[in-house]
Amino acid sequence: MKFVYVLLLLTTSFLSMSQSQVVIHADQGKHTINKHIYGHFAEHLGRCIYGGFYVGEGNKEIPNTQGVRNDIVDALKRLRIPNLRWPGGCFADTYHWKDGIGPKDKRPSIVNRWWGNVTEDNSFGTHDFLNMCELLNTEPYVSVNVGSGTVQEVADWVQYVNFDGVSPMSNLRIVNGRQAPWKVRFWGIGNEAWGCGGNMTAEYYANIYRQYATFMTGWSNAEKLYRIASGANSSDYHWTEVLMKNIPHGMLDGLALHHYSVIDWSKKGPATGFTEEQYMKTMVQALKMDELITRHSAIMDQSDPNKKIALVVDEWGGWYDVEPGTNPGFLYQQNSMRDAVLAGATLNIFHKHAERVRMANLAQTVNVLQAVILTEGEKMVLTPTYHVLDMYKVHQDATMLPVEVTAKEYSLGSDKVTSLSASASRDASGAVHISLVNIDAKQSQTVTLNLKGVKLSGTTAQILTSSKLSDHNTFDKPDLIKPKKFQDFKVSGESLTVTLPPFSVVVLEVK
Ligand code: AHR
Repeated sequence: MKFVYVLLLLTTSFLSMSQSQVVIHADQGKHTINKHIYGHFAEHLGRCIYGGFYVGEGNKEIPNTQGVRNDIVDALKRLRIPNLRWPGGCFADTYHWKDGIGPKDKRPSIVNRWWGNVTEDNSFGTHDFLNMCELLNTEPYVSVNVGSGTVQEVADWVQYVNFDGVSPMSNLRIVNGRQAPWKVRFWGIGNEAWGCGGNMTAEYYANIYRQYATFMTGWSNAEKLYRIASGANSSDYHWTEVLMKNIPHGMLDGLALHHYSVIDWSKKGPATGFTEEQYMKTMVQALKMDELITRHSAIMDQSDPNKKIALVVDEWGGWYDVEPGTNPGFLYQQNSMRDAVLAGATLNIFHKHAERVRMANLAQTVNVLQAVILTEGEKMVLTPTYHVLDMYKVHQDATMLPVEVTAKEYSLGSDKVTSLSASASRDASGAVHISLVNIDAKQSQTVTLNLKGVKLSGTTAQILTSSKLSDHNTFDKPDLIKPKKFQDFKVSGESLTVTLPPFSVVVLEVK
């Protein structure tokens, strides 16, 4: 009797654990996962720059280098962030760069009209940003003002930062304390031109883009600028069609796409303490990224079959209600295991589309939206999203290995998604990395991985998980969620069997 009971119990728990398969075509890697899909975004918004990255040169309480927090620099260097987008976002189309150069006490103050109507004293400007990128060992990605600026202003900016000969702008740069040009490669021509960037039609913006792109040249003549057009809002496929048709391809290196995982713009829901239904709806939006990329790429393929123009997802992430009691214009939100799952699954989608998606920027780095770092005074917290990017950095510039996933559905009400997300790559040393995300909020799943032709003897793994989906790191408990060594896997021949707890992210390394 006792035996039958135990058998029944074992069978029930076995059945409640879903079985999934992942086939990894380790012999079919063709495309590189461009490290630039691991890019970040720092806007003059809320406490991202001021009170986030930048605490001021005179700050004695928080250790800093030229006003930039040392702890943030160290944390981002550990992530190996490949590029950083600045100064916006919507702010970029109100920003006049000449306000942010020269002696700080002489710089004009403006009103940040998109984000809380707060005073912007321009104390963090071009030199501050580009020097900070050098500290971070990352490439700057500058978004220029098309909405309320001029072509001349932008041409001057390019000359100011990039020209190494004698010219009015390079001379001004030297007067302001910088001899050598920074040689900025990535330039975004406007932001959300269909919205905060000027409410333009695609046809009108395409013409404006041509004009700006014409007068932005590589002033050092040594390198070509990488010019990125303001792209579609989520599923606005017409925008992509018009830009691909109306902009000469020689003038276009990247075409942007923005997609936020938001449940409903008028009812976003809290960043923590959310329901499973809200989690599911966030994931439905996040996983839509696959369809968006597939369809925008298909449009691009019509005139660019060799994929010379990159799809640049330069704003992505989860967007929830701000934390209670904080300025609604500052977009400050906590970051939970939901965000870890969202980040892992989104990056797996970018890997899958490695051939076309060659750059992306998580919104935003510090204290805004799906941040990797939160600060409060001198305290700093690394979020679950930070840890996912840390675990995933092994994929940067590695060869993408195609995967086939067979997994059961995770469903709730009328919503359903595939419960497992996976990707794989092989790095320069030959090591294979596999990222697995169990999206199911309730059930564990055992995953059988089949890696043809790969010796599995030296497998190691890390996991990010917690007891509750809404768990997050706080200033009092900064290490509640952090990656741990993971051993719940078995090797047999060419197969690996892994047991993933609900809402967990695992990265395996096979050497
Ligand atoms: O990331 C916050 C805002 O979202 C950006 O400023 C804008 O481009 C987008 O709408």
